[in-house]
Amino acid sequence: MDMESVRKDFPTIRKNLGIYLDNACQSLRPDQVIQAMTDYYENYPACGGRSVHSMATKVSVGVDDCRETLASFFNTKDPECYIFTKNTTEGLNTAAFGLDLKKGDVVVTTDSEHNSNHVPWIQLRDTKGIERRFSKSGKTGEFDIESFKSCMDRKVKVVSVQQSNNVTGCSVPVKAVTEIAHDYGATVIIDGAQAAPHMPVDLSKIDADIYCCSMHKMLGPSGMGIMYGKREVLEKLHPLTYGGGTVGLTTYDSVNMAPIPDRFEAGLLNYAGIIGTKAALDYLSSVGMENIESWDTELMKRAMGNLEDVRNLHVVGPEQPSKRCGVLSFNIDGLVSHDIAMMMDSMAGIMIRSGMHCAHPFYVSRAIDGSARASTYLYNSPEEIDIFTETVRKIAETFGE
Ligand code: ALA
Repeated sequence: MDMESVRKDFPTIRKNLGIYLDNACQSLRPDQVIQAMTDYYENYPACGGRSVHSMATKVSVGVDDCRETLASFFNTKDPECYIFTKNTTEGLNTAAFGLDLKKGDVVVTTDSEHNSNHVPWIQLRDTKGIERRFSKSGKTGEFDIESFKSCMDRKVKVVSVQQSNNVTGCSVPVKAVTEIAHDYGATVIIDGAQAAPHMPVDLSKIDADIYCCSMHKMLGPSGMGIMYGKREVLEKLHPLTYGGGTVGLTTYDSVNMAPIPDRFEAGLLNYAGIIGTKAALDYLSSVGMENIESWDTELMKRAMGNLEDVRNLHVVGPEQPSKRCGVLSFNIDGLVSHDIAMMMDSMAGIMIRSGMHCAHPFYVSRAIDGSARASTYLYNSPEEIDIFTETVRKIAETFGE
């Protein structure tokens, strides 16, 4: 991967606007994505799927192209199985509330899920009486397949797990988990928010029933997500939102729902976002997801190696860089994570995230009140990592205790 030429495509890097290490929250965007969206706004800012004039037709073609690009990016055959959402959260909510779960049905997750794969299940526990079971992770957050197996029986209707964790980077072997879940007849939902930007994802191989991810972590526009579902699963799933665009014909007292994907995409869509999504996927494919995965690991090796002997510093999660999926969470004794993040920014213009990263149960169960988190992507350079680690060292050795 030619990281130097990649860096030239990103305006905030060209303008020297700081060292961006908050990629697990949202990535930077290259010229190609910004230009595709500007082109939409300047030259064909119409609505797709409704009007038949020339601008609208261009939008409809753009939407179809994007679904085809998604099918090829994730290696599945049917572009209609990709639903545009506003983020992973909306996809996971659509899946949770759309599956028609009943009192006593069991949902298995890990104990380290993001709130988006936790709060909807709590709501369904409280409103419908579903039961939760948690696959217990190891001390550093690693998935434990034996614990997962011990959660499974015929009462389990859904297994919903993250593919990679946004705090520790730990990955779940989603193909193996799907196979086990299917043996028990459970529907499998995968939260791919942290994994899809950082590794090749082959949905045909994984065989999950539903897979959700966010384009804003994948060089794409803000407020754009994807929910993939197998056709037979989507055909039975209830939409989260109803309205224009989701129906074939309505009368005063009847509704004939449109086929997938339309029935899940109520109201006007984020057309600029869809156009930008295609540009982002094309960009990632041209660099190669394998290359991005190895680059993240290289950067993580460098960062963790540089930090090995820093006093007062504790890494949250595994010590092996290859297990971190581009996220390095850490604490410094005597400092609150938000203070670390503010110091990083004011001392060296380094942008990281701090707090509990929407993964509250993970922190609460380990009695940690948050962490600082640096997260890398394809455009981060080894030099940026060295500046980051030198700044961490200064903060830890000067203000830590
Ligand atoms: N879940 C996102 C993060 O980890 C927002 O930063």
